[in-house]
Amino acid sequence: MMILKILCFITLLGLQVNLSVADIASTWVYCECKWNDWEGWSDCNSDCFGERVRYRSVNITLKPTCDEFSDCATYDEGQDWEGCNEVCYNGGTVSWLSFYPCYCELGFHGSCCTEVVNCGTPDNVIDGTRVWTSTDYGGVAEYSCNTYYNMTTGDPVRTCQDDFTWSGTTPQCVFAYHCNSSPCINGECVNLLDDFRCDCYDGWGGQLCENDIQPPVVVNCSSNIAINATKRTVRYDWTSPSFYDPHGNDLDIVSNYPTPFFVFPWGDYTAQYVATKPSNGLSTECAFNISVRPTPCEELNIPINGARLCNGWRADYGQFCMVTCQQNYTIGAGDKSFQTMYVCGASGTWIATGPIPDCQVELESISEALHYQPEYETYSFDGSCDSNVIVTSLQNLYLERIVSPGGFRELCTQFPDECVPENVVVKCGATI
Ligand SMILES: *[C@@H]1O[C@H](CO)[C@@H](O)[C@H](O)[C@H]1NC(C)=O
Ligand SMILES: *[C@@H]1O[C@H](CO)[C@@H](O)[C@H](O)[C@H]1NC(C)=O
Ligand SMILES: *[C@@H]1O[C@H](CO)[C@@H](O)[C@H](O)[C@H]1NC(C)=O
Ligand SMILES: *[C@@H]1O[C@H](CO)[C@@H](O)[C@H](O)[C@H]1NC(C)=O
Ligand SMILES: *[C@@H]1O[C@H](CO)[C@@H](O)[C@H](O)[C@H]1NC(C)=O
Ligand SMILES: *[C@@H]1O[C@H](CO)[C@@H](O)[C@H](O)[C@H]1NC(C)=O
Repeated sequence: MMILKILCFITLLGLQVNLSVADIASTWVYCECKWNDWEGWSDCNSDCFGERVRYRSVNITLKPTCDEFSDCATYDEGQDWEGCNEVCYNGGTVSWLSFYPCYCELGFHGSCCTEVVNCGTPDNVIDGTRVWTSTDYGGVAEYSCNTYYNMTTGDPVRTCQDDFTWSGTTPQCVFAYHCNSSPCINGECVNLLDDFRCDCYDGWGGQLCENDIQPPVVVNCSSNIAINATKRTVRYDWTSPSFYDPHGNDLDIVSNYPTPFFVFPWGDYTAQYVATKPSNGLSTECAFNISVRPTPCEELNIPINGARLCNGWRADYGQFCMVTCQQNYTIGAGDKSFQTMYVCGASGTWIATGPIPDCQVELESISEALHYQPEYETYSFDGSCDSNVIVTSLQNLYLERIVSPGGFRELCTQFPDECVPENVVVKCGATI
């Protein structure tokens, strides 16, 4: 490309040279043509890299037919052109190698660098001000926002660039002090750009913290209570929970126990207190369980060479146990028999009192057995106490004893679903 430009230029020069020596008319000599002197040069037709021209005329001898310029030469021979004002302005430098003749300093444009770069008035900013040193190249425009407005986008300082534009973008000023009008009713206001946020105090909600979302607060809500009763009933006193509203509103409090004490039979109870805040309908509950049981007794021993049979259901309300012996062993004669029930009642002690007698009397014969305990045959078992067959037969034996007269049949009549053989607990004693 560069080489092509050079060639073109040389060709143009050569053409001018050729033109100045040729094209004399054939009648030049006959007409005795002579060139007059060149006139002065015309003004240059451009401030830079223009052309100027000078003319010359011919001095013709007045011969017949010799009265025209063309009798001496072609018309172009009467003109002489040359370049003029081959200068660049404003510090530009001549550049033969670019499309334009001048290579301009920054801030100047045009083929002769006479055009001064101007970016025009910088854009206006709403809710802010702008000042500028100059709109020419290198000029600086500074933006600022009015009081209570923050600059969000754009550049606070912009410079007029060589491409006739201001650098960066026009800033935007946005209102950022909504909190000045205290819009949050029960919270802290946080300024946001063109917006605000309310950080509500505890118990307040809503866009402006205008909603009371505080439920009643409970203090001293009792935990669950377990009571060992020594009688059929027990009086228990507790501390009522306290409720209050941090916002100071009245509360409605209801409870399923009108007084903070009650005489409880054995059983499970739930005390419930509910406080409701009529102003916003929110409520808070305090509930705790009260479990009343007879005082448990110490674990009974398991008879040697025998088995202990007890109820496995409702044992926390009362335990009913009896003894059986393996074949050829029996309990000694005395105040206890196979029909004695060991009952753990409310007092926390066994009646009859423990321990259970062991089956330590080894028998030689049935008649000898009857001497010790007449019910020996009913309450002895023939086989290993651990075997399923024996366990099942002992469980059934226990149920028969329970429902018989003097056998605490309420344990079955009150809880018929639980009074089944599988729920009888059989514990086998050591064999010696
Ligand atoms: C033409 O040439 C003659 C003789 O050389 C001269 O006397 C005359 O002044 C010239 N005319 C002009 C107009 O120059
Ligand atoms: C607004 O500008 C001030 C000063 O720079 C600043 O402290 C405040 O956080 C800005 N506000 C927002 C909402 O950005
Ligand atoms: C909570 O119970 C404690 C101990 O019984 C008592 O000192 C306190 O005053 C009670 N608090 C309230 C708010 O009733
Ligand atoms: C009830 O009695 C049992 C067994 O004696 C004991 O472990 C428990 O702590 C007692 N509970 C109360 C509340 O006294
Ligand atoms: C009270 O007992 C009931 C039934 O066993 C149970 O569902 C509830 O969670 C208990 N309440 C407490 C406060 O432990
Ligand atoms: C019990 O004694 C009788 C007669 O002495 C005997 O036949 C039987 O095998 C004994 N039973 C057991 C389980 O030892």
